[in-house]
Amino acid sequence: MLSAALITAASALLCKAQESKPVSADGMPHLERRGDATQLIVDDKPFLILGGELHNSSSSSVEYMKSVWPQLTAMHMNTALLPVAWETIEPEEGKFDFSYVDGLLEDARASNMKIVILWFGAWKNTFSSYTPAWVKTNLTRFPRVQTSDGRDTERLSPFSTVVRDADARAFVKLMHHLREVDGERHTVLMIQVENEVGVIPQSRDHSEVANAAFAGEVPAALTGYLEKHRATLNPKLRATWEENGARTRGTWQEVFGKTSLTDDLFMAWNYATYIEHVAAAGKREYPLPMYANAALIRPNYEPGQYNSGGPLPHSMDVWRAGAPSINFLSPDIYFNEFAQWASDYTRPDNPLFIPEAQGGVTGAANVLYAVGREDAIGFSAFGVDDVGNTPLDLVGITNPAEHIDSRALGAMYLTLSRLEPLLLKGQETGGLSAALLEGDAQRAARTSVGAYTANIARAGSAATAGARVGVLFIQTGADEFLVVGAGDAMVSFTADTPGPPIVGIESIDEEFFENSKWTARRRMNGDENSQGQALRLHASDASEGRIYRVRLYRYK
Ligand code: DGJ
Repeated sequence: MLSAALITAASALLCKAQESKPVSADGMPHLERRGDATQLIVDDKPFLILGGELHNSSSSSVEYMKSVWPQLTAMHMNTALLPVAWETIEPEEGKFDFSYVDGLLEDARASNMKIVILWFGAWKNTFSSYTPAWVKTNLTRFPRVQTSDGRDTERLSPFSTVVRDADARAFVKLMHHLREVDGERHTVLMIQVENEVGVIPQSRDHSEVANAAFAGEVPAALTGYLEKHRATLNPKLRATWEENGARTRGTWQEVFGKTSLTDDLFMAWNYATYIEHVAAAGKREYPLPMYANAALIRPNYEPGQYNSGGPLPHSMDVWRAGAPSINFLSPDIYFNEFAQWASDYTRPDNPLFIPEAQGGVTGAANVLYAVGREDAIGFSAFGVDDVGNTPLDLVGITNPAEHIDSRALGAMYLTLSRLEPLLLKGQETGGLSAALLEGDAQRAARTSVGAYTANIARAGSAATAGARVGVLFIQTGADEFLVVGAGDAMVSFTADTPGPPIVGIESIDEEFFENSKWTARRRMNGDENSQGQALRLHASDASEGRIYRVRLYRYK
Protein backbone atom coordinates (compact mmCIF):
# COMPACT_ATOMS: atom_id res chain seq x y z
CA MET A 1 0.00 0.00 0.00
CA LEU A 2 1.30 3.43 -0.85
CA SER A 3 1.03 6.53 1.26
CA ALA A 4 -0.52 9.66 -0.24
CA ALA A 5 2.89 11.35 -0.53
CA LEU A 6 4.34 8.41 -2.36
CA ILE A 7 1.37 8.29 -4.70
CA THR A 8 1.97 11.92 -5.65
CA ALA A 9 5.64 11.22 -6.22
CA ALA A 10 4.64 8.18 -8.19
CA SER A 11 2.85 10.13 -10.89
CA ALA A 12 5.97 12.15 -11.54
CA LEU A 13 8.24 9.17 -11.58
CA LEU A 14 6.47 6.54 -13.55
CA CYS A 15 8.83 5.03 -16.01
CA LYS A 16 8.11 5.24 -19.68
CA ALA A 17 6.66 1.76 -19.83
CA GLN A 18 4.10 2.53 -17.17
CA GLU A 19 3.35 6.05 -18.38
CA SER A 20 2.39 4.97 -21.81
CA LYS A 21 -1.17 4.35 -22.77
CA PRO A 22 -2.17 0.72 -23.13
CA VAL A 23 -0.13 -0.65 -26.02
CA SER A 24 -2.97 -2.33 -27.78
CA ALA A 25 -6.69 -2.14 -28.15
CA ASP A 26 -6.91 -5.89 -28.66
CA GLY A 27 -6.56 -7.00 -25.05
CA MET A 28 -2.85 -7.72 -25.22
CA PRO A 29 -1.20 -8.13 -21.80
CA HIS A 30 0.28 -4.83 -20.66
CA LEU A 31 0.95 -2.84 -17.51
CA GLU A 32 -1.27 0.03 -16.61
CA ARG A 33 -1.46 2.46 -13.72
CA ARG A 34 -4.91 2.15 -12.20
CA GLY A 35 -5.46 4.39 -9.20
CA ASP A 36 -2.92 3.53 -6.52
CA ALA A 37 -1.39 0.54 -8.28
CA THR A 38 0.30 -0.57 -11.46
CA GLN A 39 -1.57 -3.65 -12.63
CA LEU A 40 -1.18 -6.31 -15.27
CA ILE A 41 -4.08 -5.94 -17.70
CA VAL A 42 -5.08 -8.97 -19.77
CA ASP A 43 -8.00 -8.90 -22.19
CA ASP A 44 -8.76 -5.43 -20.87
CA LYS A 45 -9.15 -6.59 -17.27
CA PRO A 46 -6.70 -6.51 -14.36
CA PHE A 47 -5.15 -9.90 -13.70
CA LEU A 48 -3.52 -11.16 -10.50
CA ILE A 49 -0.87 -13.83 -11.09
CA LEU A 50 -1.28 -16.71 -8.64
CA GLY A 51 1.60 -18.66 -9.99
CA GLY A 52 4.18 -21.34 -9.67
CA GLU A 53 7.56 -21.69 -11.33
CA LEU A 54 8.44 -25.13 -12.62
CA HIS A 55 11.72 -26.87 -12.04
CA ASN A 56 14.21 -25.89 -14.69
CA SER A 57 13.97 -29.03 -16.80
CA SER A 58 10.24 -29.80 -16.64
CA SER A 59 9.09 -27.69 -19.58
CA SER A 60 11.77 -29.05 -21.90
CA SER A 61 9.42 -31.97 -22.54
CA VAL A 62 5.80 -31.52 -23.57
CA GLU A 63 5.28 -35.17 -22.67
CA TYR A 64 6.68 -34.78 -19.16
CA MET A 65 4.47 -31.75 -18.65
CA LYS A 66 1.30 -33.77 -19.38
CA SER A 67 1.23 -34.98 -15.80
CA VAL A 68 2.30 -31.63 -14.37
CA TRP A 69 -0.56 -29.48 -15.68
CA PRO A 70 -3.18 -31.27 -13.54
CA GLN A 71 -0.95 -30.73 -10.48
CA LEU A 72 -0.88 -27.01 -11.15
CA THR A 73 -4.62 -26.93 -11.60
CA ALA A 74 -5.05 -28.81 -8.34
CA MET A 75 -3.04 -26.08 -6.63
CA HIS A 76 -5.47 -23.50 -8.04
CA MET A 77 -2.78 -21.65 -9.93
CA ASN A 78 -3.72 -19.46 -12.83
CA THR A 79 -0.19 -19.04 -14.24
CA ALA A 80 2.84 -21.27 -14.79
CA LEU A 81 6.29 -19.72 -15.04
CA LEU A 82 8.34 -21.95 -17.30
CA PRO A 83 11.67 -21.78 -19.09
CA VAL A 84 12.10 -21.73 -22.84
CA ALA A 85 15.77 -22.40 -23.49
CA TRP A 86 17.84 -21.06 -26.35
CA GLU A 87 19.37 -24.52 -26.96
CA THR A 88 15.91 -26.03 -27.45
CA ILE A 89 14.58 -23.58 -30.02
CA GLU A 90 17.82 -23.13 -32.00
CA PRO A 91 19.72 -26.41 -31.72
CA GLU A 92 21.45 -25.63 -35.01
CA GLU A 93 22.41 -22.09 -35.83
CA GLY A 94 19.68 -20.37 -37.81
CA LYS A 95 17.32 -23.38 -37.65
CA PHE A 96 14.43 -22.85 -35.29
CA ASP A 97 12.04 -25.36 -33.84
CA PHE A 98 9.03 -24.07 -31.93
CA SER A 99 7.12 -27.33 -31.77
CA TYR A 100 7.64 -27.73 -28.05
CA VAL A 101 6.60 -24.14 -27.39
CA ASP A 102 3.42 -24.81 -29.34
CA GLY A 103 2.85 -28.04 -27.42
CA LEU A 104 3.21 -26.21 -24.11
CA LEU A 105 0.83 -23.46 -25.19
CA GLU A 106 -1.77 -25.96 -26.30
CA ASP A 107 -1.66 -27.90 -23.04
CA ALA A 108 -1.63 -24.73 -20.95
CA ARG A 109 -4.76 -23.54 -22.70
CA ALA A 110 -6.43 -26.92 -22.21
CA SER A 111 -5.67 -26.53 -18.48
CA ASN A 112 -6.98 -22.96 -18.45
CA MET A 113 -3.53 -21.79 -17.42
CA LYS A 114 -1.59 -18.66 -18.42
CA ILE A 115 2.16 -18.71 -18.93
CA VAL A 116 5.11 -16.46 -18.11
CA ILE A 117 8.05 -17.49 -20.28
CA LEU A 118 11.52 -17.43 -18.77
CA TRP A 119 13.98 -16.83 -21.59
CA PHE A 120 17.00 -18.94 -20.71
CA GLY A 121 19.24 -17.26 -23.27
CA ALA A 122 22.87 -16.43 -22.57
CA TRP A 123 22.52 -16.77 -18.80
CA LYS A 124 20.89 -18.95 -16.20
CA ASN A 125 22.06 -18.33 -12.59
CA THR A 126 25.20 -16.53 -13.89
CA PHE A 127 26.19 -19.58 -16.03
CA SER A 128 25.53 -20.20 -19.72
CA SER A 129 24.31 -23.77 -19.43
CA TYR A 130 21.22 -23.35 -21.63
CA THR A 131 23.03 -22.00 -24.68
CA PRO A 132 23.13 -24.20 -27.79
CA ALA A 133 26.16 -26.45 -28.22
CA TRP A 134 27.29 -24.38 -31.23
CA VAL A 135 27.58 -21.42 -28.84
CA LYS A 136 28.90 -23.23 -25.80
CA THR A 137 31.75 -24.95 -27.59
CA ASN A 138 33.00 -22.01 -29.65
CA LEU A 139 34.99 -19.93 -27.18
CA THR A 140 36.63 -17.87 -29.87
CA ARG A 141 33.43 -16.62 -31.41
CA PHE A 142 31.48 -16.46 -28.14
CA PRO A 143 33.89 -15.18 -25.48
CA ARG A 144 33.53 -15.84 -21.78
CA VAL A 145 33.71 -13.82 -18.59
CA GLN A 146 37.33 -14.08 -17.45
CA THR A 147 38.90 -14.07 -14.03
CA SER A 148 41.65 -11.59 -13.12
CA ASP A 149 44.28 -14.24 -13.90
CA GLY A 150 42.94 -14.63 -17.44
CA ARG A 151 40.98 -17.87 -17.07
CA ASP A 152 37.69 -18.41 -18.93
CA THR A 153 34.60 -19.21 -16.88
CA GLU A 154 31.45 -21.00 -18.02
CA ARG A 155 29.72 -17.67 -18.44
CA LEU A 156 29.36 -15.79 -21.69
CA SER A 157 30.66 -12.25 -21.52
CA PRO A 158 28.05 -9.47 -21.57
CA PHE A 159 30.70 -7.35 -23.28
CA SER A 160 30.54 -9.41 -26.46
CA THR A 161 28.28 -7.94 -29.12
CA VAL A 162 28.52 -11.26 -30.97
CA VAL A 163 27.01 -13.09 -28.00
CA ARG A 164 24.41 -10.36 -27.57
CA ASP A 165 23.35 -10.33 -31.21
CA ALA A 166 23.08 -14.12 -31.43
CA ASP A 167 21.01 -14.17 -28.22
CA ALA A 168 18.81 -11.33 -29.53
CA ARG A 169 18.29 -13.05 -32.89
CA ALA A 170 16.94 -16.16 -31.22
CA PHE A 171 14.80 -14.12 -28.82
CA VAL A 172 13.34 -12.11 -31.70
CA LYS A 173 12.36 -15.36 -33.43
CA LEU A 174 10.66 -16.52 -30.26
CA MET A 175 8.73 -13.27 -29.84
CA HIS A 176 7.77 -13.30 -33.52
CA HIS A 177 6.48 -16.82 -33.14
CA LEU A 178 4.55 -15.95 -29.98
CA ARG A 179 2.85 -13.04 -31.72
CA GLU A 180 1.82 -15.39 -34.54
CA VAL A 181 0.49 -18.21 -32.40
CA ASP A 182 -0.64 -16.33 -29.30
CA GLY A 183 -1.15 -12.71 -30.37
CA GLU A 184 -4.90 -13.15 -30.11
CA ARG A 185 -5.16 -15.80 -27.41
CA HIS A 186 -3.00 -14.11 -24.74
CA THR A 187 -1.89 -17.29 -23.04
CA VAL A 188 1.58 -15.82 -22.57
CA LEU A 189 1.39 -12.89 -20.17
CA MET A 190 4.96 -11.71 -19.74
CA ILE A 191 8.58 -12.61 -20.45
CA GLN A 192 11.46 -12.88 -18.03
CA VAL A 193 14.62 -12.04 -19.99
CA GLU A 194 17.51 -14.31 -18.87
CA ASN A 195 17.67 -15.67 -15.33
CA GLU A 196 19.49 -14.37 -12.26
CA VAL A 197 22.37 -12.74 -14.14
CA GLY A 198 25.58 -11.52 -12.53
CA VAL A 199 29.13 -12.75 -12.06
CA ILE A 200 30.72 -14.95 -9.42
CA PRO A 201 33.23 -15.69 -7.96
CA GLN A 202 34.88 -12.36 -8.76
CA SER A 203 33.08 -9.05 -8.78
CA ARG A 204 33.57 -8.25 -12.45
CA ASP A 205 34.58 -9.59 -15.83
CA HIS A 206 38.33 -9.18 -16.41
CA SER A 207 38.38 -9.93 -20.13
CA GLU A 208 40.30 -7.45 -22.25
CA VAL A 209 37.22 -5.71 -23.55
CA ALA A 210 35.74 -5.53 -20.04
CA ASN A 211 38.96 -4.04 -18.67
CA ALA A 212 38.93 -1.37 -21.39
CA ALA A 213 35.32 -0.47 -20.59
CA PHE A 214 36.14 -0.33 -16.86
CA ALA A 215 39.04 2.06 -17.50
CA GLY A 216 36.79 4.28 -19.64
CA GLU A 217 34.22 6.86 -18.57
CA VAL A 218 30.87 6.07 -17.04
CA PRO A 219 28.40 6.58 -19.91
CA ALA A 220 26.62 9.93 -19.88
CA ALA A 221 23.30 8.08 -20.11
CA LEU A 222 23.96 6.77 -16.60
CA THR A 223 25.36 9.93 -14.99
CA GLY A 224 22.54 11.92 -16.62
CA TYR A 225 20.01 9.53 -15.06
CA LEU A 226 21.66 9.91 -11.64
CA GLU A 227 21.44 13.69 -11.88
CA LYS A 228 17.86 13.72 -13.09
CA HIS A 229 16.61 11.21 -10.52
CA ARG A 230 18.84 12.24 -7.62
CA ALA A 231 15.98 12.75 -5.18
CA THR A 232 14.55 9.29 -5.66
CA LEU A 233 17.71 7.20 -6.15
CA ASN A 234 18.15 4.11 -4.01
CA PRO A 235 19.73 5.50 -0.79
CA LYS A 236 22.81 3.25 -0.98
CA LEU A 237 23.49 4.18 -4.60
CA ARG A 238 22.93 7.86 -3.90
CA ALA A 239 25.24 7.84 -0.89
CA THR A 240 27.98 6.04 -2.85
CA TRP A 241 27.73 8.52 -5.70
CA GLU A 242 27.60 11.57 -3.42
CA GLU A 243 30.46 10.40 -1.18
CA ASN A 244 32.59 10.39 -4.32
CA GLY A 245 31.56 13.92 -5.27
CA ALA A 246 28.36 13.29 -7.27
CA ARG A 247 30.50 13.56 -10.38
CA THR A 248 28.87 13.66 -13.78
CA ARG A 249 32.05 12.63 -15.61
CA GLY A 250 34.86 10.26 -14.81
CA THR A 251 35.88 6.63 -14.80
CA TRP A 252 33.86 4.07 -12.86
CA GLN A 253 36.23 4.27 -9.92
CA GLU A 254 36.27 8.08 -10.00
CA VAL A 255 32.48 8.28 -10.00
CA PHE A 256 31.71 5.48 -7.54
CA GLY A 257 34.97 4.87 -5.65
CA LYS A 258 37.58 2.12 -5.52
CA THR A 259 35.50 -0.65 -4.00
CA SER A 260 33.99 -3.90 -5.21
CA LEU A 261 30.59 -2.17 -5.21
CA THR A 262 31.85 -0.17 -8.18
CA ASP A 263 32.58 -3.46 -9.98
CA ASP A 264 29.01 -4.51 -9.21
CA LEU A 265 27.54 -1.25 -10.61
CA PHE A 266 29.78 -1.54 -13.67
CA MET A 267 28.55 -5.09 -14.33
CA ALA A 268 24.96 -3.99 -13.64
CA TRP A 269 25.21 -1.35 -16.35
CA ASN A 270 26.65 -3.83 -18.82
CA TYR A 271 24.15 -6.60 -18.11
CA ALA A 272 21.35 -4.02 -18.27
CA THR A 273 22.40 -2.58 -21.61
CA TYR A 274 22.91 -6.07 -23.05
CA ILE A 275 19.45 -7.12 -21.86
CA GLU A 276 18.00 -3.86 -23.14
CA HIS A 277 19.24 -4.75 -26.60
CA VAL A 278 17.68 -8.22 -26.44
CA ALA A 279 14.39 -7.05 -24.87
CA ALA A 280 13.92 -4.06 -27.19
CA ALA A 281 14.49 -6.27 -30.24
CA GLY A 282 11.94 -8.77 -28.92
CA LYS A 283 9.42 -6.05 -28.15
CA ARG A 284 9.60 -4.79 -31.70
CA GLU A 285 8.12 -8.16 -32.66
CA TYR A 286 5.68 -8.49 -29.80
CA PRO A 287 5.68 -5.98 -26.94
CA LEU A 288 4.70 -8.12 -23.98
CA PRO A 289 5.73 -6.86 -20.52
CA MET A 290 9.30 -7.95 -19.76
CA TYR A 291 11.26 -8.16 -16.53
CA ALA A 292 14.62 -9.29 -15.14
CA ASN A 293 14.96 -11.29 -11.90
CA ALA A 294 17.55 -11.12 -9.15
CA ALA A 295 19.22 -13.65 -6.87
CA LEU A 296 19.31 -11.76 -3.57
CA ILE A 297 22.23 -11.15 -1.24
CA ARG A 298 22.93 -13.32 1.78
CA PRO A 299 23.90 -11.33 4.88
CA ASN A 300 27.45 -9.95 4.70
CA TYR A 301 28.13 -11.26 1.20
CA GLU A 302 30.29 -9.12 -1.04
CA PRO A 303 29.99 -8.59 -4.82
CA GLY A 304 31.23 -11.79 -6.45
CA GLN A 305 30.05 -13.86 -3.49
CA TYR A 306 26.60 -12.80 -4.64
CA ASN A 307 25.73 -12.30 -8.34
CA SER A 308 27.63 -9.09 -9.03
CA GLY A 309 25.73 -6.96 -11.53
CA GLY A 310 22.31 -8.52 -10.99
CA PRO A 311 19.27 -6.25 -10.56
CA LEU A 312 19.63 -5.72 -6.81
CA PRO A 313 18.08 -2.89 -4.80
CA HIS A 314 21.27 -0.79 -4.82
CA SER A 315 21.59 -1.12 -8.60
CA MET A 316 17.94 -0.79 -9.61
CA ASP A 317 18.51 2.77 -10.85
CA VAL A 318 21.45 1.61 -12.94
CA TRP A 319 19.19 -1.03 -14.49
CA ARG A 320 16.37 1.48 -15.01
CA ALA A 321 18.77 3.79 -16.86
CA GLY A 322 20.34 0.99 -18.90
CA ALA A 323 17.28 -1.12 -19.68
CA PRO A 324 14.17 1.02 -20.23
CA SER A 325 12.52 -1.80 -22.20
CA ILE A 326 12.54 -3.91 -19.06
CA ASN A 327 9.27 -2.96 -17.35
CA PHE A 328 10.34 -3.99 -13.87
CA LEU A 329 12.93 -5.83 -11.80
CA SER A 330 11.92 -8.74 -9.62
CA PRO A 331 13.32 -10.38 -6.51
CA ASP A 332 13.51 -14.16 -6.06
CA ILE A 333 12.78 -14.21 -2.32
CA TYR A 334 13.85 -17.40 -0.55
CA PHE A 335 15.32 -15.66 2.48
CA ASN A 336 13.69 -14.37 5.59
CA GLU A 337 13.01 -10.63 5.70
CA PHE A 338 10.41 -11.17 3.00
CA ALA A 339 8.72 -7.87 3.88
CA GLN A 340 11.96 -5.91 3.54
CA TRP A 341 12.87 -7.42 0.17
CA ALA A 342 9.32 -6.93 -1.11
CA SER A 343 9.41 -3.30 -0.05
CA ASP A 344 12.83 -2.74 -1.68
CA TYR A 345 11.40 -3.86 -5.02
CA THR A 346 8.20 -1.81 -4.78
CA ARG A 347 8.75 1.64 -6.17
CA PRO A 348 6.57 3.99 -8.18
CA ASP A 349 8.58 2.96 -11.23
CA ASN A 350 8.71 -0.73 -10.26
CA PRO A 351 5.60 -2.78 -9.51
CA LEU A 352 6.26 -5.85 -7.38
CA PHE A 353 6.23 -9.28 -8.99
CA ILE A 354 7.86 -12.23 -7.22
CA PRO A 355 8.76 -14.98 -9.69
CA GLU A 356 10.40 -17.34 -7.16
CA ALA A 357 9.65 -17.84 -3.49
CA GLN A 358 9.00 -20.50 -0.90
CA GLY A 359 5.73 -22.39 -1.15
CA GLY A 360 3.80 -24.14 1.61
CA VAL A 361 2.58 -22.31 4.68
CA THR A 362 5.33 -19.71 4.33
CA GLY A 363 4.19 -18.95 0.79
CA ALA A 364 0.57 -18.75 1.95
CA ALA A 365 1.50 -15.99 4.41
CA ASN A 366 3.88 -14.20 2.07
CA VAL A 367 1.43 -13.97 -0.81
CA LEU A 368 -1.05 -12.18 1.46
CA TYR A 369 1.57 -9.59 2.29
CA ALA A 370 2.78 -9.10 -1.28
CA VAL A 371 -0.70 -8.61 -2.70
CA GLY A 372 -2.20 -6.69 0.22
CA ARG A 373 0.65 -4.48 1.33
CA GLU A 374 2.74 -3.93 -1.80
CA ASP A 375 0.03 -4.23 -4.47
CA ALA A 376 1.97 -7.03 -6.17
CA ILE A 377 0.90 -7.96 -9.68
CA GLY A 378 1.67 -11.56 -8.81
CA PHE A 379 3.40 -14.17 -6.68
CA SER A 380 4.94 -17.46 -7.68
CA ALA A 381 6.43 -20.30 -5.63
CA PHE A 382 9.40 -22.20 -7.05
CA GLY A 383 9.45 -25.91 -7.86
CA VAL A 384 5.69 -26.28 -7.77
CA ASP A 385 5.73 -29.39 -9.90
CA ASP A 386 6.93 -31.31 -6.91
CA VAL A 387 6.39 -29.12 -3.87
CA GLY A 388 7.02 -31.53 -1.06
CA ASN A 389 9.69 -33.50 -2.88
CA THR A 390 12.10 -30.73 -3.77
CA PRO A 391 15.52 -31.19 -2.19
CA LEU A 392 15.15 -28.48 0.40
CA ASP A 393 18.73 -27.27 0.25
CA LEU A 394 18.17 -26.52 -3.43
CA VAL A 395 15.56 -23.94 -2.61
CA GLY A 396 17.20 -22.64 0.52
CA ILE A 397 14.56 -24.00 2.92
CA THR A 398 15.82 -24.55 6.43
CA ASN A 399 12.60 -25.60 8.09
CA PRO A 400 11.06 -28.56 6.23
CA ALA A 401 7.75 -28.14 8.04
CA GLU A 402 7.35 -24.80 6.35
CA HIS A 403 7.70 -26.25 2.92
CA ILE A 404 5.99 -29.58 2.72
CA ASP A 405 2.43 -28.48 3.30
CA SER A 406 1.69 -27.60 -0.30
CA ARG A 407 -2.01 -27.61 0.51
CA ALA A 408 -1.64 -24.32 2.35
CA LEU A 409 -0.49 -22.36 -0.70
CA GLY A 410 -2.92 -24.14 -3.03
CA ALA A 411 -5.82 -23.46 -0.68
CA MET A 412 -4.72 -19.85 -0.31
CA TYR A 413 -4.64 -19.48 -4.08
CA LEU A 414 -8.22 -20.79 -4.19
CA THR A 415 -9.31 -18.22 -1.62
CA LEU A 416 -7.47 -15.42 -3.39
CA SER A 417 -8.85 -16.41 -6.77
CA ARG A 418 -12.35 -16.17 -5.35
CA LEU A 419 -11.54 -12.75 -3.95
CA GLU A 420 -9.65 -11.61 -7.05
CA PRO A 421 -12.09 -8.87 -8.19
CA LEU A 422 -12.15 -7.39 -4.69
CA LEU A 423 -8.36 -7.59 -4.39
CA LEU A 424 -7.72 -5.89 -7.71
CA LYS A 425 -10.27 -3.17 -6.96
CA GLY A 426 -8.72 -2.78 -3.50
CA GLN A 427 -5.25 -2.30 -5.01
CA GLU A 428 -6.68 0.40 -7.26
CA THR A 429 -8.54 2.27 -4.53
CA GLY A 430 -6.07 1.78 -1.67
CA GLY A 431 -8.53 -0.46 0.14
CA LEU A 432 -6.06 -3.25 0.97
CA SER A 433 -3.70 -3.66 3.86
CA ALA A 434 -1.57 -6.50 5.22
CA ALA A 435 0.88 -7.47 7.92
CA LEU A 436 3.51 -10.17 8.27
CA LEU A 437 5.19 -11.69 11.33
CA GLU A 438 8.50 -13.31 10.40
CA GLY A 439 10.41 -15.40 12.90
CA ASP A 440 9.81 -15.95 16.59
CA ALA A 441 11.40 -12.66 17.56
CA GLN A 442 8.70 -10.72 15.79
CA ARG A 443 5.79 -11.02 18.21
CA ALA A 444 3.53 -8.27 16.91
CA ALA A 445 2.83 -5.89 14.05
CA ARG A 446 0.31 -3.22 13.25
CA THR A 447 -1.18 -1.85 10.08
CA SER A 448 -3.74 0.78 9.12
CA VAL A 449 -7.04 -0.59 7.92
CA GLY A 450 -9.28 2.25 6.76
CA ALA A 451 -9.75 4.56 9.73
CA TYR A 452 -8.63 1.89 12.18
CA THR A 453 -5.40 0.27 13.24
CA ALA A 454 -5.20 -3.52 13.26
CA ASN A 455 -2.85 -4.90 15.94
CA ILE A 456 -1.62 -8.39 15.13
CA ALA A 457 -0.02 -10.50 17.85
CA ARG A 458 1.27 -14.05 17.80
CA ALA A 459 -0.99 -16.65 19.36
CA GLY A 460 -1.21 -20.41 19.45
CA SER A 461 0.84 -23.32 20.61
CA ALA A 462 4.56 -23.97 20.82
CA ALA A 463 4.17 -26.02 17.65
CA THR A 464 3.41 -22.94 15.63
CA ALA A 465 5.71 -20.57 17.51
CA GLY A 466 7.99 -18.78 15.11
CA ALA A 467 6.01 -19.83 12.04
CA ARG A 468 5.21 -17.10 9.62
CA VAL A 469 1.92 -15.23 10.02
CA GLY A 470 0.31 -13.24 7.25
CA VAL A 471 -2.92 -11.26 7.45
CA LEU A 472 -4.72 -9.47 4.63
CA PHE A 473 -7.52 -6.93 5.10
CA ILE A 474 -9.94 -5.91 2.38
CA GLN A 475 -12.04 -2.88 3.22
CA THR A 476 -15.66 -3.46 2.19
CA GLY A 477 -17.25 -0.51 4.01
CA ALA A 478 -16.33 2.34 6.35
CA ASP A 479 -16.37 -0.05 9.31
CA GLU A 480 -16.30 -3.42 7.60
CA PHE A 481 -13.42 -5.65 6.46
CA LEU A 482 -12.85 -9.08 5.03
CA VAL A 483 -9.87 -10.71 6.72
CA VAL A 484 -7.81 -13.60 5.34
CA GLY A 485 -5.09 -15.11 7.50
CA ALA A 486 -2.28 -17.64 7.39
CA GLY A 487 -0.89 -18.60 10.78
CA ASP A 488 -1.87 -18.33 14.45
CA ALA A 489 -2.60 -14.76 15.52
CA MET A 490 -4.88 -12.50 17.47
CA VAL A 491 -6.06 -9.29 15.78
CA SER A 492 -7.44 -6.40 17.83
CA PHE A 493 -8.51 -3.02 16.53
CA THR A 494 -7.92 0.53 17.73
CA ALA A 495 -8.84 3.91 16.31
CA ASP A 496 -6.31 5.91 14.37
CA THR A 497 -8.44 8.96 13.60
CA PRO A 498 -10.02 11.61 15.82
CA GLY A 499 -13.34 10.64 17.40
CA PRO A 500 -14.46 8.20 20.03
CA PRO A 501 -11.34 6.31 20.90
CA ILE A 502 -12.64 2.90 21.80
CA VAL A 503 -13.28 0.43 19.04
CA GLY A 504 -15.66 -2.43 19.51
CA ILE A 505 -16.28 -5.47 17.39
CA GLU A 506 -19.91 -5.44 16.26
CA SER A 507 -19.64 -8.87 14.70
CA ILE A 508 -17.33 -11.50 13.24
CA ASP A 509 -18.81 -13.82 10.67
CA GLU A 510 -17.09 -16.78 9.15
CA GLU A 511 -18.00 -16.70 5.48
CA PHE A 512 -17.36 -18.84 2.47
CA PHE A 513 -17.44 -17.93 -1.14
CA GLU A 514 -18.86 -20.93 -2.91
CA ASN A 515 -20.72 -21.38 -6.16
CA SER A 516 -20.17 -17.70 -6.96
CA LYS A 517 -21.97 -16.48 -3.88
CA TRP A 518 -21.19 -15.61 -0.32
CA THR A 519 -22.48 -17.96 2.34
CA ALA A 520 -22.40 -16.83 5.93
CA ARG A 521 -21.57 -19.64 8.33
CA ARG A 522 -20.89 -19.18 12.00
CA ARG A 523 -21.46 -15.89 13.86
CA MET A 524 -18.39 -15.86 16.09
CA ASN A 525 -18.86 -13.32 18.87
CA GLY A 526 -18.10 -15.60 21.81
CA ASP A 527 -15.33 -17.87 23.05
CA GLU A 528 -13.72 -18.22 19.63
CA ASN A 529 -12.93 -14.53 19.61
CA SER A 530 -12.42 -13.66 23.28
CA GLN A 531 -16.06 -12.61 23.68
CA GLY A 532 -15.80 -10.25 20.73
CA GLN A 533 -12.63 -8.49 21.90
CA ALA A 534 -10.34 -9.69 19.11
CA LEU A 535 -10.32 -11.78 15.96
CA ARG A 536 -8.54 -15.12 16.43
CA LEU A 537 -6.82 -16.45 13.32
CA HIS A 538 -5.72 -20.09 13.15
CA ALA A 539 -2.95 -21.90 11.31
CA SER A 540 -5.64 -24.05 9.70
CA ASP A 541 -7.45 -21.03 8.21
CA ALA A 542 -5.28 -21.06 5.10
CA SER A 543 -5.86 -24.69 4.18
CA GLU A 544 -9.54 -24.45 5.12
CA GLY A 545 -10.11 -21.37 2.98
CA ARG A 546 -11.67 -19.32 5.79
CA ILE A 547 -12.57 -15.68 5.29
CA TYR A 548 -13.82 -13.54 8.16
CA ARG A 549 -16.10 -10.53 7.83
CA VAL A 550 -15.45 -8.14 10.69
CA ARG A 551 -17.69 -5.16 11.54
CA LEU A 552 -16.36 -2.51 13.91
CA TYR A 553 -17.92 0.38 15.81
CA ARG A 554 -16.67 3.18 18.06
CA TYR A 555 -17.75 4.32 21.52
CA LYS A 556 -16.46 6.65 24.23
C1 DGJ B 1 17.00 -19.77 -8.48
C2 DGJ B 1 16.95 -19.95 -9.98
O1 DGJ B 1 16.50 -18.76 -10.58
C3 DGJ B 1 16.07 -21.12 -10.37
O2 DGJ B 1 16.13 -21.31 -11.76
C4 DGJ B 1 16.50 -22.36 -9.63
O3 DGJ B 1 17.80 -22.67 -9.99
C5 DGJ B 1 16.40 -22.10 -8.14
N1 DGJ B 1 17.27 -21.01 -7.78
C6 DGJ B 1 16.76 -23.35 -7.36
O4 DGJ B 1 16.78 -23.08 -6.02
